[in-house]
Amino acid sequence: MGFFEFSKNVYWVGVKDWSRRMFDALIPLPRGTSYNSYLIVGEKKLLVDTVNPGFEDELKKNVDAIVGLENLDYLVMNHAEPDHAGAIPYLMSLNGKLKILATLKGAKIAQTYYNVPYDRIIVVEDGDGLELGGKTLKFIEAPMLHWPETMFTYLREDNILFSCDFFGAHLAEGFFDDEVEDLPVFAQKYFGEIMMPFKVMGRAALEKLKNFEIKVIAPSHGPIYKNPNKILNLYRSWIEGFTREKVVIVYVSMWGSTENMAHIMSKTLMSEGVYVVEYNLSYADLGDLIKDLVDARAIVLAAPTVLNGAHPLMVYFLYLFNALRPPTKYCIILGSFGWAGGGVKRIKDAVSANVEVLDVLEVNGRANETEIAKIVEFGRRLAKKVKEI
Ligand SMILES: Cc1cc2nc3c(=O)[nH]c(=O)nc-3n(C[C@H](O)[C@H](O)[C@H](O)COP(=O)(O)O)c2cc1C
Ligand SMILES: [Fe+2]
Ligand SMILES: [Fe+2]
Repeated sequence: MGFFEFSKNVYWVGVKDWSRRMFDALIPLPRGTSYNSYLIVGEKKLLVDTVNPGFEDELKKNVDAIVGLENLDYLVMNHAEPDHAGAIPYLMSLNGKLKILATLKGAKIAQTYYNVPYDRIIVVEDGDGLELGGKTLKFIEAPMLHWPETMFTYLREDNILFSCDFFGAHLAEGFFDDEVEDLPVFAQKYFGEIMMPFKVMGRAALEKLKNFEIKVIAPSHGPIYKNPNKILNLYRSWIEGFTREKVVIVYVSMWGSTENMAHIMSKTLMSEGVYVVEYNLSYADLGDLIKDLVDARAIVLAAPTVLNGAHPLMVYFLYLFNALRPPTKYCIILGSFGWAGGGVKRIKDAVSANVEVLDVLEVNGRANETEIAKIVEFGRRLAKKVKEI
């Protein structure tokens, strides 16, 4: 059986996608993911979110085993992205009376993506409630977390917050937070990849949630939090952009010159007592790298010149770095060139204005003794800055 009851008359009826390895054609999923769908049984029966296309039958079997899909009254669409809303057309085709609850923006997306007719959508606003008979819901608008239509659903009798992607983690294993030792790492990755660009909206959502007594957080990916304080505290810290004495060194190198500079920098920083993480862009796991950007105080960007610009992997990384808006305060840029150079200038021009560029060094070929001494000097200065805060 693929479901379980985790609170009286509240069931997890989702699916575990153990073998998925990529999300949004961008994010690696080393341990799969889950699409959490929840069934709430009062006098009326309601489903919170659905599953990724391809898993509709599994969801149907789970719902059938508990109440019968034809007996569902409502479907809450907290978020319109297909990993949670993709099964809506299938469920609606099998249950002619099923009504979709969504925000106004959600209603519009449901029409364009899933052809949901207007008369089958109930638009809800912030603070609206729904009485199921024995179970009472409240809807909390949480826009841009991480699409315009996103909202949360709160179940009053059980103090459960159904938060969709917010507080999520891409992990197939584990039903509860205390089962997965490294869940915080996966939650941090997820935050960095999906929520970090929307810190302002995240802060507003956390503020709103203060008005609710939350005993359980049931997100739409990964385990259910029976102890919500842990993840709430982590989110507070990430959203406020609290950083650690940590430097992420991101580099790419074709023949080792830039790599050598990156290594000298990381050794210098480590000898100054700074926590350093190095990523070689030619094989780095993007999820791990983004996870480290969530709380790193500084970044070192190192790339050689290729065709008058920076190596394309660095250009790609810079695009992501700027878009994700990590709380990085300081930056050092290093690079090697063969004849005319220009790579580091391109990096400097591209890096977000929110980051203070402390030092830049471009060397011809391999760094010589004088240049090595400069990198060491830069490293010591950066270490001091990083420890100052
Ligand atoms: C495909 C390719 C394109 C390059 N384009 C340039 C260039 O436009 N200008 C330049 O100064 N050097 C260019 N170079 C030379 C490299 O920047 C130089 O070899 C540098 O030292 C490589 O650093 P690395 O050892 O970290 O890979 C190019 C090298 C390669 C392989
Ligand atoms: Fe999403
Ligand atoms: Fe999602």
